[in-house]
Amino acid sequence: MAKPSAEVETLIEAARTASRAAYAPYSHFKVGAAVLTDEGAMHAGVNVENASYGLTICAERNAIFQAVARGARHIRAIAIYTPTKTATPPCGACRQVLREFGSDIDVYSACDGPGVLHHKLDRLLPEAFGPDNR
Ligand code: THU
Repeated sequence: MAKPSAEVETLIEAARTASRAAYAPYSHFKVGAAVLTDEGAMHAGVNVENASYGLTICAERNAIFQAVARGARHIRAIAIYTPTKTATPPCGACRQVLREFGSDIDVYSACDGPGVLHHKLDRLLPEAFGPDNR
């Protein structure tokens, strides 16, 4: 993608910084995420693993829940940092949880390699079931 804006660079940096606090003693795959709300606030989250592996929460959902816990109800963008050579888009569960808080969401994925992946959420999760379908 074209060079990210300063705001997106800041969001990516927040995700990268957050990843240092990830709790990943089983996978050793420390992920950070940061969401940007309509109000312009940034909220970061990390993956938190569990000895009962299936209870693990991804960094993306953690960041979304941090935002919601602070009153946010609409997300403009999310940045994800993974300690990989190529950037990775969010898992299916996180896409669905993101969809609750917007469809025109910009999803940026950054890693230790060059470049940033950018998708709109409605491309990552087409024909989604969302809050309007209830
Ligand atoms: N993980 C995330 O936090 N986000 C992703 O987008 C992919 C996977 C976490 C879950 C688990 O703690 C570890 O990475 C390995 O899958």
